[in-house]
Amino acid sequence: MMFKGKDIVSIKELSKKEIDRIFEVAEEMIPIARGEKKSEILRGYVLATLFFEPSTRTRLSFETAMHRLGGGVIGFSNPKATSISKGETLADTIRIIDLYSDVIVIRHPYEGSARLAAEFAQHPVINAGDGAGQHPTQTLLDLFTMTREFGDIKGLNIALIGDLKYGRTVHSLAYILSELGANIYLVSPPLLRMPKHIIRELKSRPVEVDNLDDIVEEVDVFYVTRIQKERFPDPTEYRKVAGTYSITEKLLSKAKKSAIVMHPLPRVGEIATEVDKLPHARYFQQAFNGVPVRMALLSLVLGVV
Ligand code: NCD
Repeated sequence: MMFKGKDIVSIKELSKKEIDRIFEVAEEMIPIARGEKKSEILRGYVLATLFFEPSTRTRLSFETAMHRLGGGVIGFSNPKATSISKGETLADTIRIIDLYSDVIVIRHPYEGSARLAAEFAQHPVINAGDGAGQHPTQTLLDLFTMTREFGDIKGLNIALIGDLKYGRTVHSLAYILSELGANIYLVSPPLLRMPKHIIRELKSRPVEVDNLDDIVEEVDVFYVTRIQKERFPDPTEYRKVAGTYSITEKLLSKAKKSAIVMHPLPRVGEIATEVDKLPHARYFQQAFNGVPVRMALLSLVLGVV
């Protein structure tokens, strides 16, 4: 296993063994992520966070991860304030930031942008979401959350719900869940079905359902997603599907006691706030898990653990 210098662009490039190693390190990072224990293992290292799209959790949990380990952070969350607004290419921007930092995290609206960045940077590049493409670090924290809850993923019934067409989190997640032997249900309005090229790459055929009520009693994990309004070419199409799904207390009253509800967040109505107090709710814990998982990733690609 050679993590040092590795780019994390797609979840497909990580083996089961590598994922286990990330989780082993993430487990050790939890007390540091909580602020209960101090660490300086990344002292002297600089992380660059380049966010060409809005973000709260991904950017701030990467930055927290770096700070908690004693490292420094540079970057931007508003590309308009950089030379990109003067016409600088992504390739040139990356070449320069690569000279200023030891590891680069990038989020960009175009699929393939993180791959391009990885080609131009000498230092490791971590994809924090490329358009409707991949979001591998979200997938790792999702999987970490499920693994801590259930142990083995094999045989779990996992429903991916909402925008399966444009949602990059579910594109990355479906792949790894099928590799690990989960039973996948795809629940979405017809307009937002998971693209065929992603389904073709899955090890076993997922079950496509229109109505969550039909499967609610069997589900172990409800993985809910936001309809990705910003990726719709036509706003009238968005209006047709907005508000299609909502996870409510009533729906969950029929679910298994052990079932959990996850969401990469932000939620915009897909999970009623009344669900927050139920023992099923796991989305806030999931968002916290982004910190130890990203601490593990940064330490591994920088070669300090
Ligand atoms: C997701 C994203 O950016 O893809 N957010 C996140 O990273 N937690 C999901 C979303 O925006 O709906």
